[in-house]
Amino acid sequence: MLRFLTAGESHGKTLVGTMEGFPSNVPIDMEQINKDLARRQKGYGRGGRMKIETDKMEILAGLRNGKTLGSPIAFLIKNKDYENWEKFMDPKQAETEEKRVTKPRPGHADLTGALKYGFDDVRNVLERSSARETAVRVGIGSLAKQLMTLFDIEVYSHVIAIGNAALGKNPNENSDEKLGKIIDEKLDAKLDGKIDEKSDEEKEDLEVLKKAEESEVRCIDQDAENAMIEEIKKAKENGESLGGVFEIHIKGVPHGLGSYVQWDRKLDGKLAHHLMSIQGIKGVEIGDGFETAGMEGSKVHDEIYYDEEQKFYRKTNHAGGIEGGMSNGETIVIRCAMKPIPTLYKPLKTVDLITKEEALASVERSDTCAVPAASIVGEMVAITVIAQEFLRKFGGDSIEEIRKRWKDYQ
Ligand SMILES: Cc1cc2nc3c(=O)[nH]c(=O)nc-3n(C[C@H](O)[C@H](O)[C@H](O)COP(=O)(O)O)c2cc1C
Repeated sequence: MLRFLTAGESHGKTLVGTMEGFPSNVPIDMEQINKDLARRQKGYGRGGRMKIETDKMEILAGLRNGKTLGSPIAFLIKNKDYENWEKFMDPKQAETEEKRVTKPRPGHADLTGALKYGFDDVRNVLERSSARETAVRVGIGSLAKQLMTLFDIEVYSHVIAIGNAALGKNPNENSDEKLGKIIDEKLDAKLDGKIDEKSDEEKEDLEVLKKAEESEVRCIDQDAENAMIEEIKKAKENGESLGGVFEIHIKGVPHGLGSYVQWDRKLDGKLAHHLMSIQGIKGVEIGDGFETAGMEGSKVHDEIYYDEEQKFYRKTNHAGGIEGGMSNGETIVIRCAMKPIPTLYKPLKTVDLITKEEALASVERSDTCAVPAASIVGEMVAITVIAQEFLRKFGGDSIEEIRKRWKDYQ
């Protein structure tokens, strides 16, 4: 069982992660992890904090000579901003008055957190409820991703809507179905090592995929990207904030991860649980999700075919790769809806925690929109769940043992 915990305050000395159940003898590429951490920090619409931090993972335990030991992995990611906050955040003796927050922000954990834990200073809540914590989940996910890559399981994400600007609203761009196909084909080419033999047309398509990585809002379509950036600019000027939707594709997942035999073993349930735990995520859809509610059954369910080469296969993937709580061998497709950032530079009304008088909510340095960053967090959280379920099915103490079980199954 692959388990993990995170710790750390947003302006505390360091963030900490620990993971147990990771097999031995897995080579770990630290550069790749730091790249994933940097991917989370990017995105048009981020606030000043991400300019201060350059997240790097420092491994404390569980690794020797670049390979995992099978023992718990422990790591830290330093908060550079601690230099400016040491006086206020020191664990032993801190100056608490100057940075005290008593005007809870609607949409945050502030009010209920303070009431629940008995604080007269909301800072004691917001330091931990902050999405700075997601840096650790990216660290955990990046480790899981490296394990899954050894079994040709790849994760990818892109943004499909920010505020009112969305891929689907642009008449010139690819339909989602076509987009999904392009992504699948490109990942196929990558997995088959065919990337160097690509035709001009393939090169063009590859550019499309690369675009999400290079796009400031992780959008594959230029016109939609421009519209999204405009939306964010407008929101910023108005002291507003925005949410949006991102989509995750997980390719190469074998059939049979998760199970129908018990409610808490269902893969869709687990993915939804973990993804909904990301700060600001308010909806998770698998496959066609909410849209299926208004459709006829024959348009929703993916008919089953068989041939010698492909064995059992589908021509469509409305189910998003999961049926009966199990992966069915098709690409897993998940969409997540993120609400607008709750810290507003034009603050909302609140009530002072101490005086009980009407007030304006406090303002902590904040993003205007963090959907592109959240899509990276989503990728990493989703691949962590896949790794957990993969190890549950094929698990062993070492990578060699797992490989044997995986090959037998295939
Ligand atoms: C990557 C990322 C960055 C975020 N940045 C901010 C931010 O700068 N300011 C803010 O108020 N909320 C930000 N949020 C959202 C809040 O953390 C979140 O809405 C809040 O903790 C309340 O949790 P809930 O929305 O899940 O109920 C961010 C979320 C993510 C995933």
